Amino acid sequence: MVGDYLFNQRIRTDRTGLESLAVRIARDVDNSDVSAIRESLSIAAGELGGRVLLLDENGKVQADSYGEMNGIRLEYPEVANVLLKGVTTDYGIHEMESGEQLNTNNLLFTRRGNASWVGYCTAGVVMSSEIIGVLLLVSPVQEMMQNLYQLQDQMVLIFIVIAVAALLCALIFARVITKPVGGLMRGIQRMSKGDFSARVQVKSSGEFRQLAQAFNSMSEKLETLDQSRNQFVSNASHELKTPLATMKIMLESLIYQPDMDKELRAEFMSDINSEIDRLSNVVSDLLTLVQMDSQNVKLTRENLSIAALIKENAHRLQPIADQKGQQISLTLSDPCDIYADKSKLNQVIYNLMENAVKYTQSGGQIKVSLVRQGRDAIFTVSDNGPGIPKENLPHVFDRFYRVDKARSREKGGTGLGLSIVHQLVLLHGGAIRVESEEGKGASFIVELPLHQG
Ligand SMILES: Nc1ncnc2c1ncn2[C@@H]1O[C@H](COP(=O)(O)OP(=O)(O)OP(=O)(O)O)[C@@H](O)[C@H]1O
Ligand SMILES: [Mg+2]
Repeated sequence: MVGDYLFNQRIRTDRTGLESLAVRIARDVDNSDVSAIRESLSIAAGELGGRVLLLDENGKVQADSYGEMNGIRLEYPEVANVLLKGVTTDYGIHEMESGEQLNTNNLLFTRRGNASWVGYCTAGVVMSSEIIGVLLLVSPVQEMMQNLYQLQDQMVLIFIVIAVAALLCALIFARVITKPVGGLMRGIQRMSKGDFSARVQVKSSGEFRQLAQAFNSMSEKLETLDQSRNQFVSNASHELKTPLATMKIMLESLIYQPDMDKELRAEFMSDINSEIDRLSNVVSDLLTLVQMDSQNVKLTRENLSIAALIKENAHRLQPIADQKGQQISLTLSDPCDIYADKSKLNQVIYNLMENAVKYTQSGGQIKVSLVRQGRDAIFTVSDNGPGIPKENLPHVFDRFYRVDKARSREKGGTGLGLSIVHQLVLLHGGAIRVESEEGKGASFIVELPLHQG
């Protein structure tokens, strides 16, 4: 484009200069006024900065501003175009030595090392609409070509610089984008191999940051889930192994001591029997928990009164309380009718009251109250037993959690009761919390919505 612009400018000035000369000298040519023609040519040669020649209608030089080529026939295509094709002016660029014409439409590819270039401009001399001669301007275009080539060099250089810069930018950009994705990919691969400790660095911003954070919180949850599952399995197997080991020892004594005392024998038998009871309790508790974990527990709801359920359970526990000289007092200010699963609610009440009776010392007091507060029933079991130390409070609803492991097991507990209670209360849309001070007793407070939805 720049080449075209440069040449067009030059061609236009050459053409207009030569055309006006052709008009001016037409009469002199017609009259064959040689001296006038020579004068006009040399003036024009000075003005246009080149060599001006006048050719006759056969292409023979009639006059030359350099005075050298008179009589020579020139067969340049520019001359032929004017004489034969009838164009008024023409222009071409040639190599000085070989006379080879340059294709101006394709300057970039016709570059020649140190060739010198000249421009040929022709214009027809017309008299009474007949061509009587041709003016030829030969002017050096070396400087212009040089500028053009320089420009080409610079443009190629600029193009290379820009291309390299663009390539670098693209590489950096791609790296910036793929780096966090790569980190995330490695994290996901580690996790899919079962390594839940995989975390990704949250360095980037925007969506990648959110993605990394989401991934981290997901892997954290999976890790805790994995840990609690392992814990559960190991606790459960431990819980099952203990009664089995006890039973094995007792059975072995029975087998290898056939002459054992009859009374001792009966005692062993009854111990084995109670271990079996304990084992079956643990297994049924575990089944209950697993069932609730699978999220598809169905509640068989019916209309019932919570107060009636409490009375039933108090009645059930009364013999044990009597044995320990404990007093169970009920304060039931409202029957609290509810549409709920009877056996599950019964388990909640029984587990809480049983704990109170079990962990409170002989002669203790157990207070059970039921009040209605708006749309909720508030059921509280309080005792004046040993209570639960502050640091253990957050864990009492965890599976297999026992405050005093040895003493609790001695009392037949596995640490599943409260976690079952917790799950059952949640299933009924309620909430449970514990308040306790060590040495002063414990209170378990259950809130149950009386109307669902
Ligand atoms: N009323 C209470 N007073 C003092 N400690 C209690 C009371 N209730 C529960 N705890 C403590 O909380 C622990 C967890 O109770 P949870 O009912 O879950 O298990 P458990 O009674 O040991 O066994 P399970 O109920 O499965 O037979 C108990 O081991 C006990 O240490
Ligand atoms: Mg219990």
